[in-house]
Amino acid sequence: MTKKILCFIACFISLSISAYCQKNEHLALTPPMGWNSWNTFSSEINEQLIKDMADKLVASGMKNAGYEYIVIDDCWLSHERDSIGNLQADPIKFPSGMKAVGDYIHSKGLKFGMYNCAGTMTCAGYPGTHGYEYQDALSYAKWGVDYLKYDWCYTDGINAKEAYTTMSKALTATGRPIVFSICEWGTSMPWKWAAPVAHLWRTTGDISCSWVEKKMSENFIPLGITKIIDIEANLREYAGPGHWNDPDMLEVGNGLSFNEDKTHFTMWAMLAAPLIAGNDLRKMSKQTLDILTNSNVIAIDQDSLGIQALHYMVKDSVEIWVKPLVGGNWAFCFFNRSEQKQKINFDFASHIINDTFSHRILNTNILKYKIYDLWERKEIGYTNKMLKYDIPSHSVLLLKLSPNKFTE
Ligand code: GLA
Repeated sequence: MTKKILCFIACFISLSISAYCQKNEHLALTPPMGWNSWNTFSSEINEQLIKDMADKLVASGMKNAGYEYIVIDDCWLSHERDSIGNLQADPIKFPSGMKAVGDYIHSKGLKFGMYNCAGTMTCAGYPGTHGYEYQDALSYAKWGVDYLKYDWCYTDGINAKEAYTTMSKALTATGRPIVFSICEWGTSMPWKWAAPVAHLWRTTGDISCSWVEKKMSENFIPLGITKIIDIEANLREYAGPGHWNDPDMLEVGNGLSFNEDKTHFTMWAMLAAPLIAGNDLRKMSKQTLDILTNSNVIAIDQDSLGIQALHYMVKDSVEIWVKPLVGGNWAFCFFNRSEQKQKINFDFASHIINDTFSHRILNTNILKYKIYDLWERKEIGYTNKMLKYDIPSHSVLLLKLSPNKFTE
């Protein structure tokens, strides 16, 4: 074969590989966990605050519980790129620059997340990445970024799949493993196309710290927790290891009632959602910390099968959600979204749950299961007895069913 033909074949192979080289496949095999600045601090961020949050994530025990990413959301940028078009940090908010912030985060054994946007500007009006994808990806890699949240403001006329694919390839081309978090609010149904491109995608508009929608202004009605849960219910078949539905960051500790915080956290775990705290870690109460670090609930979220819960049925005004877990276990969540306390009488034997998506069947007539109450941290019996419980308003009963004898 002549040199020319060999060269042609080599070029063809490398072009084909780069065309398919989208996201890094080995990341986010369980839903990412961390902290993000937006829900509490919005534009009021700076270097010291981010360092404080990294310190607190470690000192509070959250790092040990699994939280690893510190993500700086919108408003970290200077309003201008530099003379050669590089992004630069706001020199007042981040005087040491983003590499130094990243180094600090890494020195605490944590990972570093940042934010930008597929449009010409970020949602808060700072330079967006449109047209600068490869250049910006290189800046992130140079600064040691491990996670990029990529938003969707100022994107008139841009195709979402193309824009996110370009950025995904740009990140992969840097050679640095960077988790890619799509944030286009579900408008182009990313669950249908983004699995090869991203590790997680927002499924809804912005969350608010409320049980139901709360109108902020004429054009801005952020979603309540319950509405987001309803949207997610229809998307379970799209989630799995390395590609997650993202119902937005947590509002735990930001003003919901104790039961609502518990429910919010429980349902995010049932939904195999990323657990990205959004509260002020310096001021959190013991109650908030106990919720955020409940290892039983986190284990449901982080289960290695990565199956999002099934909304099985509504009984006695209580929703029943089930999530198959590794080792033949199941998470069982009774969710009372009503304004009154509800009594449940649940006979496991009369419910044979056939989850056709995960190909798993729960039949307690064939196998007896031991039941654990995951919030109360205690065994409460077996599935051969009727389960009787009072569930307070806006609250949950979260159980784990473990087969008496089972090997997968
Ligand atoms: C959008 C995103 C939010 C946040 C803000 C920042 O609204 O959905 O999560 O990142 O932008 O401006």
